[in-house]
Amino acid sequence: MVTLQTRSRFRTTALAALTFASLLVIIISFSVLSRNPQIIPSSGSFPNPHNYHHTIKPHQKISSLSRINSPHLISKLRAYERHHKRCQPHSQSFNQTIHQLLTNKNNSNSNPAAAAACNYIVYTPVNGLGNRMLSLASAFLYALLTNRTLLVNFGPDMTDLFREPFPNSTWLLPKQDSTRVFDDATTLHFRDAHNYIHYLLYLPYRCRNYEKFFFRDENQKRIESVPWLILHSDQYFLPYLFLMPCFRPELDRLFPNRETVFHQLGRYLFSPSHQAWGFISTFYETFLSKADERIGIQIRVFNDSRGKSTPLVMKHVLSCIRKQGILNRTGNRAVLVASLSGDFYKELKVNAAGVGVYQASQEESQRLGDASHNMKAWVDMYLLSMCDVLLTSAWSTFGYVAHGLGGVKPWILQIPDIGGAGDGGEAECRRAVSAEPCFHNPPDFDCPEGFVSPVVRCEDVGKGMKLVNQH
Ligand SMILES: *[C@@H]1O[C@H](CO)[C@@H](O)[C@H](O)[C@H]1NC(C)=O
Ligand SMILES: *[C@@H]1O[C@H](CO)[C@@H](O)[C@H](O)[C@H]1NC(C)=O
Ligand SMILES: *[C@@H]1O[C@H](CO)[C@@H](O)[C@H](O)[C@H]1NC(C)=O
Ligand SMILES: *[C@@H]1O[C@H](CO)[C@@H](O)[C@H](O)[C@H]1NC(C)=O
Ligand SMILES: *[C@@H]1O[C@H](CO)[C@@H](O)[C@H](O)[C@H]1NC(C)=O
Ligand SMILES: *[C@@H]1O[C@H](CO)[C@@H](O)[C@H](O)[C@H]1NC(C)=O
Repeated sequence: MVTLQTRSRFRTTALAALTFASLLVIIISFSVLSRNPQIIPSSGSFPNPHNYHHTIKPHQKISSLSRINSPHLISKLRAYERHHKRCQPHSQSFNQTIHQLLTNKNNSNSNPAAAAACNYIVYTPVNGLGNRMLSLASAFLYALLTNRTLLVNFGPDMTDLFREPFPNSTWLLPKQDSTRVFDDATTLHFRDAHNYIHYLLYLPYRCRNYEKFFFRDENQKRIESVPWLILHSDQYFLPYLFLMPCFRPELDRLFPNRETVFHQLGRYLFSPSHQAWGFISTFYETFLSKADERIGIQIRVFNDSRGKSTPLVMKHVLSCIRKQGILNRTGNRAVLVASLSGDFYKELKVNAAGVGVYQASQEESQRLGDASHNMKAWVDMYLLSMCDVLLTSAWSTFGYVAHGLGGVKPWILQIPDIGGAGDGGEAECRRAVSAEPCFHNPPDFDCPEGFVSPVVRCEDVGKGMKLVNQH
């Protein structure tokens, strides 16, 4: 298991040095301001960079490949980058292939796949940002395995969160007449591999009807020649690829350590944009950098009868902290609280005497389709990933991204059934086997005799699966 040092992690993910002016312009869109640099008092606050900009160091830009330890993965990514550049939007190949999509849509007699210079997987976001990042990483691994070009069909709520991941090229599907077809999935047909032009893979959480087709080896052969694979998903379906014989040998070469798959792919794919990095580095430098140990506590309450459960959840959080000795060590520690609500932050401040407790944003409720909400979520996830110790909430994809990017095995807090009678009994608080995220909703897998499985059931989601090295 890799547990990286926070400081080096911080530097290696560096972006270009911030210009103070641009940060200031950007920060206007958020409510700001704290006179006391130790506290972020009100809803949605980020520290004012005006006060702290002198503490932001210019960061060296180091290749995001630097933390990848598999030479085969590095060469695969390099090859992918060349491939992406050749196939990217507005390239000749792209123009040609999209032309086919528009003109030959229902013509299965001609074989456009033969003429297509590039094959694509177009990712359309579903659900919250954590889910999106997990399924996007899955889509990227699938693209690597199948020689497809990954394009993202981002709406305005996803703008400017990430840097372009591939050098000298874009992964953004252009918004032009010809690409409107991707916006409305209903104009395409489910499981339409016979069409030879496009195949819609619809893999959101609540849908289990179509996914089996995709996850069968024999069907992969049929999908192989389809130029457009259109993916709508919120699932971390990547672990299942390790169960498919057609991909397994290559995956074993790419990832000698299966417990760092998201860590490596995620850090390669998701670099904070200039704007996001402004928030992250300002907050980090101001509140977290001086601590010897950073402790991230992410509290996600899925079924809160409007605040009624807050004291109960808090009780479990504190009990977990105590039982696992999370705050017992001496030394200069900082606690970062990530939660939609500000209540936990306030409670922790009272309960964790002598420790700096900080929160970057409070949104009160999850808002889908909102750019500023997504930015705050991304900043929070990234800050958590810079912590040395993490306590995350069961079922939360937000928490998965944080510990996955950080390469940190979290303590997972599982609170029984809030909202029911009583307080639901004792909460579970246990260490995750790895930093890998969980695939919540995998199709059934018929395990052949003698098969040594690369996955186990998730700690927090009984029917989910996650990658492990051995068990
Ligand atoms: C591809 O099409 C776009 C317009 O849709 C055009 O601007 C671009 O030059 C074309 N690329 C090539 C290589 O012809
Ligand atoms: C393609 O064929 C399907 C059914 O065969 C039909 O419903 C659809 O409208 C056709 N699409 C186009 C663009 O012709
Ligand atoms: C991947 O696709 C590119 C472009 O279509 C092609 O040149 C290359 O040979 C393919 N690589 C593999 C391993 O299929
Ligand atoms: C990207 O483009 C720049 C300028 O054209 C060039 O110097 C650089 O080597 C390119 N990088 C890659 C990875 O292609
Ligand atoms: C941490 O300290 C608390 C009280 O100070 C104690 O009850 C608890 O057992 C300690 N936990 C560990 C794991 O040492
Ligand atoms: C929340 O809890 C209540 C009471 O147990 C239950 O009736 C309701 O279905 C739950 N809601 C969700 C979204 O789980």
